[in-house]
Amino acid sequence: MAKNKKFWKYFKAYKWSNISAMLKNNKKEPKICNDSAKGKLVVITGGTSGIGKVTVEKFASKGADIICINRNKEKSEDLVTSIKDKYEVDINFFIADLSLMEDTHKACEYLLNLDRPIDILIHNAGVYLTKKQYTKDGFEKVFMVNYLSSFIMNYRLIDKFKTQNSGRIILVNSEGHRFAAWGLKLDDLNWKKHRYSGLKSYGSAKLAQLQSMLIFEEIFSGTSVRINAMHPGAVKSETGQDNGKAYKSFKKKVLDKRLKQTEISAEAIYYLSISEEIKDVSGKFYNLTTLEEPTPPALDIEEARKLWQVSLDLAKLNEKQ
Ligand SMILES: NC(=O)c1ccc[n+]([C@@H]2O[C@H](COP(=O)([O-])OP(=O)(O)OC[C@H]3O[C@@H](n4cnc5c(N)ncnc54)[C@H](OP(=O)(O)O)[C@@H]3O)[C@@H](O)[C@H]2O)c1
Repeated sequence: MAKNKKFWKYFKAYKWSNISAMLKNNKKEPKICNDSAKGKLVVITGGTSGIGKVTVEKFASKGADIICINRNKEKSEDLVTSIKDKYEVDINFFIADLSLMEDTHKACEYLLNLDRPIDILIHNAGVYLTKKQYTKDGFEKVFMVNYLSSFIMNYRLIDKFKTQNSGRIILVNSEGHRFAAWGLKLDDLNWKKHRYSGLKSYGSAKLAQLQSMLIFEEIFSGTSVRINAMHPGAVKSETGQDNGKAYKSFKKKVLDKRLKQTEISAEAIYYLSISEEIKDVSGKFYNLTTLEEPTPPALDIEEARKLWQVSLDLAKLNEKQ
């Protein structure tokens, strides 16, 4: 679709009421689910810091078996030790740098070889970079970590989820998808031609993940597999540590003072993963635990189909649906 046509299509679809709803929802506390997670297997990416780490603790406190897909071995060992000291749960980790294709596929193989269903898969790993970085495979890093790796994992796990006919996939997304207000630049997902900014690349990666959810939701329709996305709140985590001194100082002195505690994110993720109240909900976006309408580009099924094809091509996956 021509650039202008796409702009006007989205422009007409924007509703101020959604922005005011978001601002109101940002002040809400998450709903709390007190149900047990005993016997459930939870897989989470990026369990070593911030939201992921507190979420691991939340699931452990509720008796879940946990597998973390982390990039750092030492941090992973510390996490496992601290969880096992406190809770009698089965917790393991698999080391994979999700900015790398090879590691992403190794993580998929590992999950495909599990001899039990994955009850909950939480795509949490993410980065925010103020300066453009490319991975050794040639992908812009924010795009790869925040979107493409989760797309590949979900895509390769389709058959496992369909066969087990159960499971909830949670995309830890962001209100930041709103920064990509006029949609994705499908011909330049790797930011080779357009001017890069941290907010634009982050927003685009999160928007891509929301668009992919539309197609996964279609694929899982008629099954008991659910996929939903959520904004985990504006919380004080380790995010931004890969940026320069100026950003880190700004974050510490300004941003962090306004941010909430990561516990609200963990409560929301737990609710969305476990609560029976939403057992039939799929393909939706939540601000913590409040259902919210994402931006018009995030609901654009035509664009989502195009992105799907581009993603398969970029990831060198064969179309199988
Ligand atoms: N914090 C917020 O206010 C906020 C708001 C909206 C959305 N989110 C989203 O929430 C999620 C968690 O972010 P956070 O705020 O908790 O940030 P964080 O504290 O920086 O945690 C990010 C996690 O992702 C892991 N990770 C980063 N790059 C990776 C890679 N290449 N391979 C594997 N794992 C990798 C990190 O591993 P290490 O421990 O090794 O660094 C860490 O465990 C992200 O998807 C983020 O976009 C956060």
